[in-house]
This record gives sequence, structure tokens and C-alpha cells, in this order.
Amino acid sequence: MNRKTFLSRTALLAAGLAGLRGKAQATHNPNSLSGHPAVIATWDNRGATEAAIQRMLKGGNALDAVEAGARVPEADPEDQSVGYGGRPDRDGKVTLDACIMDAKGRAGAVTFLQHIMHPVSVARKVMEETPHVTLSGAGALRFALEQGFEKTELLTGKSRGQWEEWLKKGVYNPAINHRQHDTIGILALDAQGHIAGACTTSGLSYKMHGRVGDSPVIGAGMYVDNEVGGACATGIGELVLKTLGSFLIVELMRNGSTPQEACEEAVRRIVKKYDTRGGQVGYLALNKNGEHGAFSIRKTFPYALYQAKENRLLKAGHL
Ligand code: GLY
Repeated sequence: MNRKTFLSRTALLAAGLAGLRGKAQATHNPNSLSGHPAVIATWDNRGATEAAIQRMLKGGNALDAVEAGARVPEADPEDQSVGYGGRPDRDGKVTLDACIMDAKGRAGAVTFLQHIMHPVSVARKVMEETPHVTLSGAGALRFALEQGFEKTELLTGKSRGQWEEWLKKGVYNPAINHRQHDTIGILALDAQGHIAGACTTSGLSYKMHGRVGDSPVIGAGMYVDNEVGGACATGIGELVLKTLGSFLIVELMRNGSTPQEACEEAVRRIVKKYDTRGGQVGYLALNKNGEHGAFSIRKTFPYALYQAKENRLLKAGHL
């Protein structure tokens, strides 16, 4: 490494860590949700958290809850980061990634899935109906159709129009577009104290055809261990994949970190090593005591948190 490279890396690291210090978020957990069903989801996914909590109030468990929650943005054409209406890859194809994990340690995932509105439900079927964890591409689609899922055109007029505008810019090259990506990661703790998680996304906008991000990768986009708690991620998948952030957070909590400390450490690992300028990665964590944590590279990281006790949204929006 020459001096110039060394200095620029050192400056970046210092700037990153200074930024991290300046961006402390949720430094304590006033909202312990112990003993009550709770749901936390990335971004302003109030609809998802409400659907999830309602599912538990109607007798569903944490697994049912995270699936019900994730299906809300998947079906929303206005959410251009998830499911139906998601922005396509640079070839104009909407390709979806999702995973789900339950309190028994079972896991299912789909990657590079096209034409199916609810990849999270296909992921659950992979978990429950096959001996595998992950199905991909054409195989995942065939499995979904065999399971009774309907083939759907996922590219809406709005997303198509934006993609066509993007093509006109003549930037058809591999790039991280839309650096703040609004993947939903969702964690639920049910009344029995069991935890489950899910993550679902259309991935980075105008990504290379075939690109798979962190969201369907167990331990990267989401991870739960019923002895400890769970974690999920949103943002630039490449950064999450290279640090296996959700698994890291759960292991840090196992070793005594609070959810907040664990999320901060997972972000720190990224900032220390990689150039994150303009990029976003955010983590959420929920432990078995119902304590939560949230931290991101950028100052702004809304999340939705819903507790059943008072049957109301505890917190949504910026921390
Ligand atoms: N976190 C979503 C993605 O990078 O695909």
C-alpha cells in the first residue's frame, strides 16, 4: 500500500468512526417489551408491524407474524424496494430475494425469484416442504408454481417508467444504484417468548441480472436463535454479506451485548473496513427479553416497533 492509499484509507476510517460517534442512535432501550408480543421492522413499515401483531393477537405465532408482516410491502406497488412494484434489474426484470427463520432454528429462502408476489411465503414453503434451505431462480419459480402460487407481472408502470428513464442516462453498467435501499427486515416475539424473523426485497435497483443480495442469506439479511434473539438488515447487501451482520449481532448478544451494542458493533465492522460513502446499512435487533436495538451508517434510520400490550404503535420514525 503506498502512502497516498494509506492516508486516504486512514482518513476514511477516521471519518467513518467520527461519523459513527456522531450518529449514535437508540443508546438505551427504554422500551423493553418483555412478556408481550412485539414486532420490529425496518423503515416506516407500520402496516407490516400492525399486520404481524394482529396475526399474533388472532392466535398466530412469531413465524406466522413475520410472514404476515412481510407480505404487506410485498403486495404494495408503491413500495419499490420489495415484491410487486419493486424496481427491476438493469435488464428490466424484477427479481426477488427473501428468507424466513423460526424459533426451532428452521430456515427457508428464495433467491433470484421472478413472477411471484410473495417470496417470503415461498421461502416458508421451502422451509416446511423441502429438505433444503434455499431455492433459486427457475427452480424456485417452478417450486412456487407447484405449491400453488400464481404467476404475476411484478413490473408496474411506475417502476418500468423509472427504469426506462435510467436507461436513457446511458449508465448501463454494474453500479450500486439507490444507495439507500428500503428492504424490509422484520422480527417478532410472540406471547410464548418465541422469536422468528423474515427479510424480503427486490434488491438493489438496476442491479446486474442474477445479482443476489444479503436479504435471502441466513445470517446476513436476517438471523434468529431462540436462545438469544434475532437481527435483521437493510441497505447495501454487499456490505452486509461481507460481514455477516445479522449472525454477528446474535452472537454478540449471546456473549452479553445489549441489542443496541450489538447493532453498533456490526455497523462499526463495516465502517472500519469498507468505503461506505453515500451508502446505507441499518440493523435491528430484538432479544428474548424484548429489548431492541437499532443502528445504521446514516443518521436517518426509521423503524417501526409495535407492542401488543397497549395495542398501539410504540415508536415509528427517526430515533
Ligand atoms: N439489502 C438488500 C439488497 O442489497 O439486496
